[in-house]
Amino acid sequence: MSDFPDDFVWGAATASYQIEGAAAEDGRGASIWDTFARVPGAIVDGSNGDVADDHYHRYAEDIALLASLGLKAYRFSISWSRVLPTGSGQVNQAGLDFYRRIAETCRQHGVTPYATLYHWDLPQPLEDAGGWLERKTAERFRDYAVTTVAALSDVISNWTTLNEPWCSSLLGYGAGVHAPGKTLGTQSLHAVHHLLLGHGLAVQALREQHPSLSLGITVNLYSMRAASSSELDLEALRRVDGLQNRLFLDPLLLGTYPTDVLADTGTAAWFAERSDDLAVISTPINFLGVNYYSRHTVAAPADGVFADPSQASMLPGSERIEFVDTGAPKTEMGWEVHPDGLVDVIEMVHDRTPELPVLVTENGAAYVDVVEADGSVQDLERQQYFEGHVEACREAVRRGLPLHGYFAWSLMDNYEWAFGYTKRFGIVYVDYETQVRTVKASGRWFAELLGCAGGPRGDPTHNARSA
Ligand code: FCB
Repeated sequence: MSDFPDDFVWGAATASYQIEGAAAEDGRGASIWDTFARVPGAIVDGSNGDVADDHYHRYAEDIALLASLGLKAYRFSISWSRVLPTGSGQVNQAGLDFYRRIAETCRQHGVTPYATLYHWDLPQPLEDAGGWLERKTAERFRDYAVTTVAALSDVISNWTTLNEPWCSSLLGYGAGVHAPGKTLGTQSLHAVHHLLLGHGLAVQALREQHPSLSLGITVNLYSMRAASSSELDLEALRRVDGLQNRLFLDPLLLGTYPTDVLADTGTAAWFAERSDDLAVISTPINFLGVNYYSRHTVAAPADGVFADPSQASMLPGSERIEFVDTGAPKTEMGWEVHPDGLVDVIEMVHDRTPELPVLVTENGAAYVDVVEADGSVQDLERQQYFEGHVEACREAVRRGLPLHGYFAWSLMDNYEWAFGYTKRFGIVYVDYETQVRTVKASGRWFAELLGCAGGPRGDPTHNARSA
């Protein structure tokens, strides 16, 4: 631990729709995930987030559990539909009060709250009006950000605008596997632009009104390589790196869109008309959040034809690129385990903005968990995943990269989007029938790393349970 700066932030992360439940309580409006989860076949187990981890009612116990592991920061997201049930206009005070309770509970435990304003749950009425394909949604997002931050800035100082705009745009409007479930091909890049614009408008307004707040955005980045050094495979790499990494890093950090990506997707003219927005999108931020899970190895289609507009894909304009199985160990999501890639993605940020602080805002792994006869969960594979990635953080710090913190995904098992409750990422196990929480071995590993050697709540069996 001495290899990390004293003020290095250690935390765990969650997101509103994945944990809160209480979907129809205290005036919350519907979001696109409430709708999408009800589309037959959209979610593998047909489930939804109506109850999830019941965090809406159990947040105090959950935050106490987080603190008992020695973690000092809680990254959670705010449900736009709780604050503004129709997405704009009338404010729902009960929604703001809930997040104030979360922040105050954090403070009581010496835990710093990190709030994300948008973790994919757009209010349904805004989607009905065109969602992120519409420029005005960016303005609505700014207004929501201003309202929310004005109400909570006395208790929350660290804010991120968006979580993973790549998912909200290309999975939601391109591949159709996330809400709102649209398959619009290269038009999904319009959603990319409006999400980034919403971020920029929000940061501009918040910076003006609250100059002392720490403001950032979280992107998901992938370490990448080509399957071979052939020209075509290198082109596949350029295309995937473009859509996955550069399409977000360049506008946010450099104020430019990657021209090759716009050319590949036939969107150059559309973006050219909006080039003035880049100054807004690249409004300076205080930190960049990076979510890192895995590495991609990519190969070109044998005939060199990359596009197939008839395929719904998260790679619009490059639908025929293949993701190659390297035989390396994978998590239950099928994601390759590659800890060194964490350093690669921090380097990507550093290459563009050498001084900008980076927070790893998510990193973690799904594995099948077994509850032993004594009630414990010995998730050693997940523990090893964390060990490897924390080691990569140590290496990043050793190299002098401006890495300031690390958040495990996730504090507890939760609703894994289109996978429903079938994938578990928590360092705390959740029994969805009883809502009993059990700290897993990986959670105890964090407690030991962070100097809480006795384990959570000093329980000698290391099996902290609470109902
Ligand atoms: C990230 C999401 C998070 C969770 C993890 C596994 O892409 O931000 O909500 O689903 O993946």
